[in-house]
Amino acid sequence: MGTARVVFDKWRDRYAQRMADVRSSAVRDLFAAATRPDMISFSGGMPEIRRVPNDAVIAAATAALRETGLEALQYGSSEGRPQVRSVVVDLMAEVGVRVKLDDIVITAGAQQALDLVAKIFIDPGDTIICEGPTYLGALQAFSAYQPNVVCVPMDENGMRMDLLAAELERLGPRGAKFIYTIPNFQNPAGVTLTPPRRRELLELARAYDIPVIEDDPYGRLRFEGGHALPLRALDDEVIYLGTFSKIFAPGLRLGWVIAPRPILARFLLAKQAADLCGSAYAQTTAERYFADPRWRKTLQDLTRAYGERRDAMIESLAEHFPAEARWTVPAGGFFVWVEMPSFLDCKSILAEAVERGVTYVPGDAFYPDGRGRNCMRLAFCYVEPEKIHEGIRRLAEVLEDRLELYRAFQAAGVLPGASDPVSERG
Ligand SMILES: Cc1ncc(COP(=O)(O)O)c(C=O)c1O
Repeated sequence: MGTARVVFDKWRDRYAQRMADVRSSAVRDLFAAATRPDMISFSGGMPEIRRVPNDAVIAAATAALRETGLEALQYGSSEGRPQVRSVVVDLMAEVGVRVKLDDIVITAGAQQALDLVAKIFIDPGDTIICEGPTYLGALQAFSAYQPNVVCVPMDENGMRMDLLAAELERLGPRGAKFIYTIPNFQNPAGVTLTPPRRRELLELARAYDIPVIEDDPYGRLRFEGGHALPLRALDDEVIYLGTFSKIFAPGLRLGWVIAPRPILARFLLAKQAADLCGSAYAQTTAERYFADPRWRKTLQDLTRAYGERRDAMIESLAEHFPAEARWTVPAGGFFVWVEMPSFLDCKSILAEAVERGVTYVPGDAFYPDGRGRNCMRLAFCYVEPEKIHEGIRRLAEVLEDRLELYRAFQAAGVLPGASDPVSERG
């Protein structure tokens, strides 16, 4: 038997209070298990980078060095190279958002933009509003600034506007610092905010004078249905966060913020303090990559593959999952959200699932307060369809085992009944 090594941290009373509530990312924690060769991982939202042609990336990276080597390896401007911002201008125009170079700051992925948002807006105790559940990386970035997070529930049409209106009414004018939303193929719920609700959200935000932050990493990964205009296309006061991670490669760590000029000036200050400027090499590589029209075909291939994986997951859920389970059916993006009866604790069965060779992220990771334990996020993006079927079969076995036990208890009158499920049955 090994002896556990206790690590004594003699500086533990020196750390700033603000980090006390920051939790480790459940996805990062699962990383080691998820990379075991026999493991089928539904935990990480990793893009299918194998489908991005290596020669296109090598050509872009080489051209970046060969043609602009001195610039690519030098410090650059904090707002980012004009050339890469010009790529962003074109990308945004394609989804109905008209912006100029000066409306954009390049960031180290959308994740840095989230950190900068928090740094700019949140004082300890401030209230912020987001969807419940929401992106765990956002919760992590925000929590260091000690906000009070209000989560507004969703249904299959995205954030519930009646509930948002009720929260805003309760909080009063300017009662929240901002509303953070992921309108397209939400992480983790997979649902999309409908066009009428987009307008309603903006009306409410205006009425209560609250900035809206639109985080849109998945908008271009649509499998079916029509494109919904981004909030930023409907209202130029919206702060829009974009990223190259899902349309090119996350390893470049490149994203962008679009915001009204006064807010953008603050982003720039915060960005300077964080890292002076982004990597000019990564930016130049992205410029070259998007100068070659083949990127469109690659994005189509990627989206088709994600769509096939979504289909495989929805099919296998219907085939294998217990009758008590409910799940969302995303029209794009990476994630399906599964809801089990309220008495089933998806966190406590994770170890068993890992033992059987399958991982997922338990739902409580996507709430600031322990809710969501009866839920799980399943990422279909990085698993081949055959493996999706196998993984869902394995997971269903774990759930069935647990449910059998509960059903027996319930029959004996020992446990409360299942809660009314809110998400749709796939
Ligand atoms: C909703 C959401 N926002 C932001 C990010 C961070 O993306 P990036 O790689 O651009 O930092 C992710 C990554 O998965 C995400 O899902």
